[in-house]
Amino acid sequence: MKRELAEAARDLSAYIKALDENLAELPHPGVKVRPVSAPAAPAAERPLPVPATTMNKQPPADMDSLALRVKKCRKCQLGHARLNAVFGVGSYNAKVVFVGEGPGFQEDHKGEPFVGRSGQLLDKILETVLGLKRSDVYIANIVKCHPMKNPETPEAHGNDRPPTPEEISACRPYLDEQLRAIKPACIVTLGSVATKVLLGIDKGISLVRGHWYDYPVELFGPGHPIKVLPTYHPAALLRNSNLKRDTWEDMKMLKSFLETGKIS
Ligand code: URA
Repeated sequence: MKRELAEAARDLSAYIKALDENLAELPHPGVKVRPVSAPAAPAAERPLPVPATTMNKQPPADMDSLALRVKKCRKCQLGHARLNAVFGVGSYNAKVVFVGEGPGFQEDHKGEPFVGRSGQLLDKILETVLGLKRSDVYIANIVKCHPMKNPETPEAHGNDRPPTPEEISACRPYLDEQLRAIKPACIVTLGSVATKVLLGIDKGISLVRGHWYDYPVELFGPGHPIKVLPTYHPAALLRNSNLKRDTWEDMKMLKSFLETGKIS
């Protein structure tokens, strides 16, 4: 027991040290954001759509054709302002899908989720706690295009905002299609927006994290729920270092589930 505790303490301090190592400075044009007159109210301040409960009986979409549909999508205003649609990245055989809120500046430029500082931190967490690379898991977002305060300045930094309920509703079916194609054993929701949207739980992330839930959408028929583990968004860890430890605990729970198929 003493030895196990000593090992856990060693793992935790190695993880904290790895996360504290400098993240790369990412280039950005540094253009100032011009405020828009009436920005949409952020999702966090308005009720978010609750999950659909119906089962889609169609065969799972082919991911490449789905990615093409997302690339051409203009179902909401985000599709008109984005530089690139950000479909998702990783293995189509992944046992776990990480879901964030929506692409930011770096993601919009690259067309790939979690490539900014939050993404670098997510990569470190995957590596140090789970021994996984981003190509071993699947990473996607609730909305596939960059929600901007001012859609006319996609080159501006600091132009991010949370997605609105309308944007979330428009984009939501794409994520379920991705999940139906990948058939993961579990989903990790990163932060409160992804957690609220996927679980319909309207509580702060600090109260919800660290517990397993069933995904309310029956993608694979009754009695085969995907497990959902909410945790903090990596951006929250960049702002508040104290959250690293709880995130470590959550990732340990995930590791145990991935190794044993059982919830601890
Ligand atoms: N934050 C997110 O929620 N998603 C990304 O892809 C990047 C940052």
